[in-house]
Amino acid sequence: MYQKVKGTIDYYGVEAKKLQIVSEKVKNTIENFGYEEVVLPIIENTEVFTRSSGETSDIVRKEMYTFNDRGKRSLTLRPEGTAGVVRFFLESKEYANLDLKKYYYFGPMFRYERPQKGRYRQFIQFGVEVFGKSSYLLDVDVIYSAYAIFKALGIENIRLKINTIGDFSSRKDYAIALKEYFKPKLDLLCPDCNERYVSNPLRILDCKVDSESVVLKQAPKIKDYLNEEAKTYFKNVLSALDLLNVPYEVDDTLVRGLDYYTDVVFEFEAMLGDNYLTICGGGKYSDLVKNMGGPDIPGIGYSFGIERLIELMNELNLFKDLEQKVDLVIISLDENTKKQSLKIANDLRKVGYKVELDYASIKMKQQFRLSEKLNAKFVLIYGEEEAKNKEVQIKNQKTGTQETIKIKDLEKYLGENL
Ligand code: HAM
Repeated sequence: MYQKVKGTIDYYGVEAKKLQIVSEKVKNTIENFGYEEVVLPIIENTEVFTRSSGETSDIVRKEMYTFNDRGKRSLTLRPEGTAGVVRFFLESKEYANLDLKKYYYFGPMFRYERPQKGRYRQFIQFGVEVFGKSSYLLDVDVIYSAYAIFKALGIENIRLKINTIGDFSSRKDYAIALKEYFKPKLDLLCPDCNERYVSNPLRILDCKVDSESVVLKQAPKIKDYLNEEAKTYFKNVLSALDLLNVPYEVDDTLVRGLDYYTDVVFEFEAMLGDNYLTICGGGKYSDLVKNMGGPDIPGIGYSFGIERLIELMNELNLFKDLEQKVDLVIISLDENTKKQSLKIANDLRKVGYKVELDYASIKMKQQFRLSEKLNAKFVLIYGEEEAKNKEVQIKNQKTGTQETIKIKDLEKYLGENL
């Protein structure tokens, strides 16, 4: 038997419906904030990620699906959305005549991770990226849009963690301090953290293995290495969040797993099962556009993990009435009326009704069985006699009442009775 690739999900039936509901709600909400959709390729040239997400991030070092195509080009299945949007922003020169660009995307991402609850190898992200002038009000509006999405989906118990990691020069001093601190404690850290010690000690703070260790908890904090400008900026961000009544926790251990961030970083997390899981993460990236060869324009964005969002909504019982209900099943009793019922079905579908019929059988019992299976609200019986009189018999499955009506009056009847 063939099996799906480890860490992937087949969406069908009710699960596919949930995906559709979430996608529509999320897109409607973000469009009110002035965002435009971009649908970008899933494959990019590998450098798009190595130059942006960072060569020292776990994602680039260990988790990318990278391969050579037949023309020997190194390509990568996108592990995240930001790098591709920046590539598009530069390639399309969209920055040339606009002060502010707001994009959103919804689509699959790929990471070679150990699959577990809420962690997959192919997963869906909804994300936004905004490019414009540096402004704490813009940053807060971006964070607020994520908050508004949780609210629009009916999710209340969400925790916003926020921090600032300053600019590159503050981070350099901080990295030196971390190196000094971790040097005598390396044997207490996991093998990966020992590598991170050499490549980028900040990454140690983001380790999934050592996250509960005292050594990490007592490490120097970035806030002690920030310059005045970064501190004031962050204070302004927090005061604007207060103004908008968005609850938050300042978490000075939050650094995020990608290399491009500067200043404000944030995560929205919720209890999933027994653990807190990050549903949405993001931050500002002041130098990424420039580092990828573009003008000096800062960006900010976030991404939601859609599988985690759906799992959370399942736990909170936020999906209701998802069973596909068919409005009508047409039952016809011979070949001729069967053929004509296809026309009746499609005339009704055209005006918005969900209509089904049994394409193969003219046996009454079998066709009624289909209407029960599909939970149809009405059954329409169309036989030789009815065809002759240009009418149908219509049976309300809930009340059991049956009436004869003209085909031309069918639409009106359904409008009044459905
Ligand atoms: P990230 O924190 O790597 O950030 O991922 C964002 C969200 O994607 C996570 O909070 C999680 O919900 C979901 N996610 C990540 N990996 C997996 C996985 N293996 N399985 C299921 N869900 C997953 C980014 O990707 C950045 N591009 C966010 C961003 C946008 N920053 C600025 N702009």
